[in-house]
Amino acid sequence: MPDLFEKCRGFFSDPSVAESMGYPASPNRAKELGVYPFFIPLDQTEGTEVTIQGQRLVMLGSNNYLGLTMHPEVREAAVRAIREFGTSCTGSRFLNGTLALHGELERRLALFVGKEKALVFSTGYQANLGVLSALIGRSDIVVCDKEDHASLIDGCRLALGRMARFRHNSAGDLDRVLAACPPDAGKLVVVDGVFSMGGEIVSLPDVLAVCRKHAARLLVDDAHGMGVLGGGRGTAAHFGLVDEVDLIVGTFSKSFASIGGFVAGDETTIHWIQHLARSLIFSASLPAPNVAAALVALDITEREPERVERVNAIADRMRESLKDLGFDVGESETPIIPIFIGDSLDTMHAWRALFDAGVYVNVAIPPAVPQGKALLRTSYMATHTDEQMDRVLEIFASVGKSLGLIA
Ligand SMILES: Cc1ncc(COP(=O)(O)O)c(C=O)c1O
Repeated sequence: MPDLFEKCRGFFSDPSVAESMGYPASPNRAKELGVYPFFIPLDQTEGTEVTIQGQRLVMLGSNNYLGLTMHPEVREAAVRAIREFGTSCTGSRFLNGTLALHGELERRLALFVGKEKALVFSTGYQANLGVLSALIGRSDIVVCDKEDHASLIDGCRLALGRMARFRHNSAGDLDRVLAACPPDAGKLVVVDGVFSMGGEIVSLPDVLAVCRKHAARLLVDDAHGMGVLGGGRGTAAHFGLVDEVDLIVGTFSKSFASIGGFVAGDETTIHWIQHLARSLIFSASLPAPNVAAALVALDITEREPERVERVNAIADRMRESLKDLGFDVGESETPIIPIFIGDSLDTMHAWRALFDAGVYVNVAIPPAVPQGKALLRTSYMATHTDEQMDRVLEIFASVGKSLGLIA
């Protein structure tokens, strides 16, 4: 009789098991080579720099785009909320877990993104699961970009209706896929505003025109556009298309210095989602300190537009400089700048060399990215200094040359 757990042992000891699942080498092999880049505990963090095993590194692996996680006002608001409301709501939004503070955050978010109503979830992941499974019924179709975030794909898996996919950021291919849908099916197109690995901005005007042509609704997951594009208000604002996008999803785990997620749209649709989203109803609500931190982060984003400008200026400089050095940064237009290496093990070796030289970056390998497209994901904060960036570029130049990644 087969033992269900046998594969788990194989994953750690037999490289062929991991390889058959799309991983480059078994975790043990990567560990033996000293290039295993995951689950590394940070001993200390000051935002732009972290300490790991006594070594200080410049942090280029965080989504803290506005540098607000260490901001004194944000920290103080979280501490005050713990004093006032305690550490947990111990229940769902549906029942005992809604505080007046959740309502305040929802009103602020709706105003911030320019929609009638917003609904706060405990994470962005849960927001996507809840929204898609609530909206997509048996006879409906959800159409996703091939590089949409995993939480959107998981939301489609939970939904009763069918999922179809179109070529990455290709409005032409979206047109083809929508044309093939049954005419009487309800249709929702789902895209990332800023793609989380490549850092490209969705071709929103083209996608929207195709949605209109086929009477499809449009959801933009703006986890990485909020705080970064459109003066901080996101991708739809960047294109001046807030009214045209039907639903905007966001997270507090990136620019807004907390954890939690939200969906914003018209009152009736949000009301429906509120009563049908299982990830909202059957899970405890966002704790007060996280709500309070997100509220203050929103205040600061509105009050200090120079933070949004700064993170984009740093990203522009780094993108150009990395390109000049000879790295392949793909189509990035935002503070997410990938460095494409291709082979997964080569990528892990490059990660290790950068780590040893004092720079923390993230490794993205299949299945998180397409086969043969492994990359180092770098991302930037408004609080990074020019001196830190000078140091990072020197390290990239010397590591890139020593590994033969650049000439
Ligand atoms: C595009 C996108 N959507 C949703 C999420 C989920 O956000 P959260 O961390 O709030 O669960 C992420 C997080 O990585 C993301 O990149």
